[in-house]
Amino acid sequence: MSGDGVDTSKRRFLTAAATVVGGIGAVYTAVPFLASWMPSERAKAAGAPVEADISKLETGQMIRVQWRGKPVWVLKRSEEMMAALPTLNPRLRDPESLEPQQPEYAQNEWRSIKPKILVAVGICTHLGCSPSFVPEATPQPYDPEWKGGFFCPCHGSRFDLAGRVFKGVPAPLNLEVPPYKYISNTLILVGDDTGAA
Ligand code: FES
Repeated sequence: MSGDGVDTSKRRFLTAAATVVGGIGAVYTAVPFLASWMPSERAKAAGAPVEADISKLETGQMIRVQWRGKPVWVLKRSEEMMAALPTLNPRLRDPESLEPQQPEYAQNEWRSIKPKILVAVGICTHLGCSPSFVPEATPQPYDPEWKGGFFCPCHGSRFDLAGRVFKGVPAPLNLEVPPYKYISNTLILVGDDTGAA
């Protein structure tokens, strides 16, 4: 009688305990699996290189692609834009690109592999806004000597058409140049420079 009752409750207790243990076991086996699987998949997706097709890019135009959740600009500079770059050197914080904001192959006066094509991460190095593209060499309220470049409306930082930061603005560094390479004359791979010349 009472023995049956005790046995039953014991059985119930053991069943419940086994279920809990089983449940905990399931959680413990699932977590390491997710932990080892999710980040690598996420990292792969987040870091995957992206292609930028510049076959239709006209002189003076810029296109944007997304890489790692960031905007990447691809600008085709005109002769005039190129000619303006060295004239700005005295007004820039790091005109020689001495700070490691670009791969070695972009540490040159135009900050790019091919002089006319700029590839840069379109994120202000101050607090992360995306600056506006202001290509016209016409006086601006923030710079009467404007030669074309990028203006960050958040706190007034300015960059030239090579992504080099001006002196006296909040942004401390030139815009970042991502790793990239040319797959062909008209196709750029952003995020991967392996095997590039
Ligand atoms: S985020 Fe660009 S100036 Fe502050």
